[in-house]
Amino acid sequence: MLQSIKEKFESLYGEGGVAYASAGRINLIGEHTDYNGGYVFPGAIDKGITAVIKLNGTDKVNAYSLDYNEAVSFGLEEADAPAQSWARYIFGVCRETIKRGGKVAGFDAVFAGDVPLGAGLSSSAALESCFAYAINDLNNNNIDKFELARIGQSTEHNYCGVKCGIMDQFASCFGQKGSLIRLNCKTMEYKYFPFNPEGYKLVLVDSCVKHELASSAYNKRRESCENAAAAIKKNHPEIEFLSDCNRLWLDEVRGEIPQEDFLRAEYVIGEVQRVLDVCDALERGDYETVGELMYQTHFGLSRLYEVSCEELDFLNKLARKMDVTGSRVMGGGFGGCTINLVKEDLYQNFVDTAKAEFAARFGHEPKIYDVVISDGARKL
Ligand code: GLA
Repeated sequence: MLQSIKEKFESLYGEGGVAYASAGRINLIGEHTDYNGGYVFPGAIDKGITAVIKLNGTDKVNAYSLDYNEAVSFGLEEADAPAQSWARYIFGVCRETIKRGGKVAGFDAVFAGDVPLGAGLSSSAALESCFAYAINDLNNNNIDKFELARIGQSTEHNYCGVKCGIMDQFASCFGQKGSLIRLNCKTMEYKYFPFNPEGYKLVLVDSCVKHELASSAYNKRRESCENAAAAIKKNHPEIEFLSDCNRLWLDEVRGEIPQEDFLRAEYVIGEVQRVLDVCDALERGDYETVGELMYQTHFGLSRLYEVSCEELDFLNKLARKMDVTGSRVMGGGFGGCTINLVKEDLYQNFVDTAKAEFAARFGHEPKIYDVVISDGARKL
């Protein structure tokens, strides 16, 4: 990929570009907990975005997407926001850097990616972190990695309409080869956990389903959680987020909030605890417990949080039927992948059966991605 990016860069803008890369992510457990101040447990993967960039001595950005074969130029003022969604991510990162007092000189860039789009692997966070990292480096801004992650998150909020949490951009900025990262999204304390489950493999099964209204449905889930937390706060003023609440406190407000908000909150409170339980089980090498908790998360995401769909529930059921150790929908939901923890000797049979049975039911094969936990944003 780097070679073709370099060639395109040289043909458009000449010599002297510097290469940067960043990564998509998986999340073992801890879904929809980040914007509730809870724990997440992601890792960066070996699929990401690579860009070649050079300052151009003007106040304009010229960016070329190799995947879309499309060039976009924009200025760095608020009024210059481009219409193309891929370019809005880059524009947003520039604007959010400037808002934080960083310098953004005009630049030329060519980039490409291999994170499957809409699969729940955070291709957008990979793009944001790659440019946030590169702009920081090229302008000697010395913005720290937490703030680089927040630049990506604010880009989603302010230029792309998704009120996401910090997980994806954090994983993409802090990812390290071979380790998952447990992050407390309230305090931003984090810990690396080497992840090399002997005898098991992590495999993603991509339903290739993408739901149009995913971002408005995502924002709606967040509102439900905030409503529930606000109701609980009336009785327990010390709480800040839903992750600070327990099940008893939620039960106290059952009659005061819509049933839907109650179910969303019930899921989140359970999920925050499951992340801690998975980390404990991992430290004991108890993968059966890890897997069982993943199934519990799927149940919650499907029935309480309602972000699964028929195709993902089908894949989850099939995994259960085949004695796959753990399986669940991953990421924001409304389509995308299941993440599966599979014993090595079951792996091939599982993958073949998933392809065949899914195709028989839905008319197309799912895509299969093996997961390699890798480094996040960096200069190449
Ligand atoms: C998306 C968001 C994240 C997180 C997940 C669900 O990936 O970008 O912030 O909320 O969904 O866990």
